[in-house]
Amino acid sequence: MSDKKTPKLRSTAWFNNPDNPGMTALYIERYLNFGLTREELQSGRPIIGIAQTGSDLSPCNRHHIELAKRVREGIREAGGICFEFPVHPIQETGKRPGAALDRNLAYLGLVELLYGYPIDGVVLTIGCDKTTPACLMAAATVNIPAIALSVGPMLNGWHKGERTGSGTIVWKGREMLASGEIDYDGYMDLVASSAPSVGYCNTMGTATTMNSLAEALGMQLPGSAAIPAPYRERGQISYETGRHIVSMVEQDIKPSDVMTRQAFENAIVVNSAIGGSTNAPIHLNAIASHLGVPLDNDDWQKLGLDIPLMVNLQPAGEYLGEDYHHAGGVPAVISELMKHGKLPHPNAMTVNGKSIGENCASAEIELPEVILPYDKPLKEKAGFLNLKGNLFDSAIMKTSVISEEFRKRYLDNPDDPQAFEGRAIVFEGPEDYHDNIDNPALDIDEHCMLFIRGTGPIGYPGGAEVVNMQPPAALLKRGIHSLPCIGDGRQSGTSGSPSILNASPEAAAMGGLALIQTGDQVRIDLGKGTADILISDEELAKRRADLETKGGFAYAEHQTPWQEIQRSMVDQFDKGMVLKPAVK
Ligand code: FES
Ligand code: MG
Repeated sequence: MSDKKTPKLRSTAWFNNPDNPGMTALYIERYLNFGLTREELQSGRPIIGIAQTGSDLSPCNRHHIELAKRVREGIREAGGICFEFPVHPIQETGKRPGAALDRNLAYLGLVELLYGYPIDGVVLTIGCDKTTPACLMAAATVNIPAIALSVGPMLNGWHKGERTGSGTIVWKGREMLASGEIDYDGYMDLVASSAPSVGYCNTMGTATTMNSLAEALGMQLPGSAAIPAPYRERGQISYETGRHIVSMVEQDIKPSDVMTRQAFENAIVVNSAIGGSTNAPIHLNAIASHLGVPLDNDDWQKLGLDIPLMVNLQPAGEYLGEDYHHAGGVPAVISELMKHGKLPHPNAMTVNGKSIGENCASAEIELPEVILPYDKPLKEKAGFLNLKGNLFDSAIMKTSVISEEFRKRYLDNPDDPQAFEGRAIVFEGPEDYHDNIDNPALDIDEHCMLFIRGTGPIGYPGGAEVVNMQPPAALLKRGIHSLPCIGDGRQSGTSGSPSILNASPEAAAMGGLALIQTGDQVRIDLGKGTADILISDEELAKRRADLETKGGFAYAEHQTPWQEIQRSMVDQFDKGMVLKPAVK
């Protein structure tokens, strides 16, 4: 390292402060216990943290325990000193009542570690759904040099000669189990076939989405997101990432230099092109707010809605993570967008000190059946619509997943091709839905819209992934496979339903969803971007006053202290579900 360029390291305040020998000695003595010498710690070499998200509790990220060894070699090679430490585990498939609850907890914990310890730069080990936003949010808040390293997707799953993708196969298998095509053991085997190796979900769920967007934001080395976890290149890029963070500290490249408004605009466009999860706006809006970068769901509609879907991955398409990598991954997608002038800011800077445009310019689509050309996409207009009305201030809808059946039934009226009306059926959370969806008293027919409430960040801490609801069995038998679904919860990134979700403010925050009643007539206009209960403002105000008199919208008791703490200070989905006191 050249001493001239190097800014004063923050770790010096701990390890080499002659003005305060007492504290310096105390800070330094225990760190000598694992092989480091005083000379090393006081040599002016940067201390690089490895924020370790892998553990036995978080199998998606567990391979990071191996990869960290390569990261360490890179750090040492480049002249840094490495301190690896644990991040609060978040496992999407393991945590009850839901992993989203822990995103802000992991964020808070990581902020304290990065702020309170002698760390000059950090490698963020990302992967499973919420680990990526948690790490990037913390890096945004502390704003010390940071680089992200994906653990990489699992290998493709296979069953009887067909690709089986994470999550997506769970939905399909359930139908096969229900119809008797497979039994309980067959179902377990089928689902397990989708998870053949270390790594995160191999479909375009929230994990592949967020890892791709971490690269599109410029926070990973180019090409890093899509390399499958067990591949040789995954170890190599881990080593390069370790080397690289040392030079980032040297050049003082901080998250605020990389994750600019321009970078977020790029990421929104990439999200549409890859067919990213409906969880992405929540997480990106959260990261942006921790940097003080303005970003909202209107930006998502304005920048993302018209971008076509180019990546043919399940659940929207056919292929899986290995194919995505072989097709060229994120650089190929970005390069193709650039060729059509669709990447808003090719000059946005990335962690390697080059612009995203420079990094991706020479990338080619290697498998055109997996990454389709921009002008021959899988679907047009793959972004999100941001709906508004007396039901909520913001709720998003992925219009590209509207099925032909749905379109014919609801959107084929030539006088009003973008709007539909229906009778509301309101469920008070997932239990009520499961208990009552087949209740004949509700008289659910194809003119109904299913509502679910009490499932937002306050009502169901972290928010529940429950908005995509199946119609009652009687309708399924008649060939009606989807009804319009609206709710203040989320939806799994591996599910492809055309729901109106992430409604903000939620019922528990006294949004319009708290006021709707079963039997109300509702109008959705996708052309105008509106969603309204067709009742007068006076009637709505009266319902609100009545509910307030009763003490507001009722929701279930918390089960753990953190749920209650989060519920007391969390913002709504459109604001990223951030902890309000944490935002700049
Ligand atoms: Fe961890 Fe999908 S469950 S990445
Ligand atoms: Mg999920």
